[in-house]
Amino acid sequence: QELKLSLEEIEKGGYEHFMLKEIHEQPKSIMDTMRGRLLVEEGIIQMAGIWDYQEKFLNAERIIIISCGTSWHAGLVGEYLIEDLARIPVEVEYASEFRYRNPIITDKDIVIAISQSGETADSLAALKLAKEKGAFIYGICNVVDSSIARLTDAGSYTHAGPEIGVASTKAFTAQLAVLSMIAIKLAKHKGTISKEKFNSLITELDSIPDKIEKLIKSTEEQIKKISLQYENVHNFLYLGRGYNYPIALEGALKLKEISYIHAEGYPAAEMKHGPIALIDENMPVVVIAPRTEHYEKIVSNIQEINSRKGKVIAIVTEGDIQVKNMVAEAIEIPDVSECFSPILASIPLQLLAYYIAILRGVNVDQPRNLAKSVTVE
Ligand code: G6P
Repeated sequence: QELKLSLEEIEKGGYEHFMLKEIHEQPKSIMDTMRGRLLVEEGIIQMAGIWDYQEKFLNAERIIIISCGTSWHAGLVGEYLIEDLARIPVEVEYASEFRYRNPIITDKDIVIAISQSGETADSLAALKLAKEKGAFIYGICNVVDSSIARLTDAGSYTHAGPEIGVASTKAFTAQLAVLSMIAIKLAKHKGTISKEKFNSLITELDSIPDKIEKLIKSTEEQIKKISLQYENVHNFLYLGRGYNYPIALEGALKLKEISYIHAEGYPAAEMKHGPIALIDENMPVVVIAPRTEHYEKIVSNIQEINSRKGKVIAIVTEGDIQVKNMVAEAIEIPDVSECFSPILASIPLQLLAYYIAILRGVNVDQPRNLAKSVTVE
């Protein structure tokens, strides 16, 4: 019998969909993104784009991050990272809003554009506007020599490799890796973290690819099983706090874009200001609850959901007992500092969205009405 493989099958490398392949590629795509930059033995982060313009970064009064979609969620994590570690004020803007609201931009501002494709029309236009107003423009793009990459004064590519699935997965975590390196590097040069803290952060960041590998191995079958129970649900709520608030938004976006189930992401404490009214036994709530500074607050959010009979799927730190005993499902991620927990927490949410969508028979690589790269307004 003749063995015929189409080009597409070869490109999928044995996976059923590009999205699944790209989820599994994350240990490698993050390693590729950090290669030659995160030099643990030398105790440095080497990023020419930051180093060459160090003065600009250290004297910046503000960093404005502009992007769209999943890249905007990476920008929100970037805000937490840069403010927390490097103590530079950060604003995160949807490119489409920024460009039309007569924004205040000066030559003391640094504008960072985050874009997988480097071709998103709104991001490109927003960047042009910022450039005209004299801001220093920095790019975090995946596609080399893309329009945004060419427009910027400097930048750092995410070396995630080509991303084919419309829903961004490995490009997103690569963006988080670049933002982590930028924040830690700026913090070192600004003196806002100690040498010891710097060393412990880079050592930990270096261990992230291994942790992802382990996490995928230990949770994928469990997530597949969990998905079976939620295939026919109409609404989902995602909650997270602090660094993981943007991951709640991203988890919800992933689910809605590929499964067509309505999902909303919220900062956990805001639940009281609206979404709690929706919670009943038909409303699954994904709660990102790793053991971080806000752990006890998240525990009380889960109690509130439980008393309204909402079903909780929690993302917890391995070995967690307290939350595990309170929820329908607990998915464990390796223990990690809070600032890196978004990278790990986003992966089970990608898998959950994927497996629910598969059960619903959706074309996950090319969901209806969506485009990989939105080059028109
Ligand atoms: C589209 C894609 C998303 C992506 C967004 C921003 O909506 O479907 O996956 O996050 O555009 O794209 P960019 O290429 O600028 O990151």
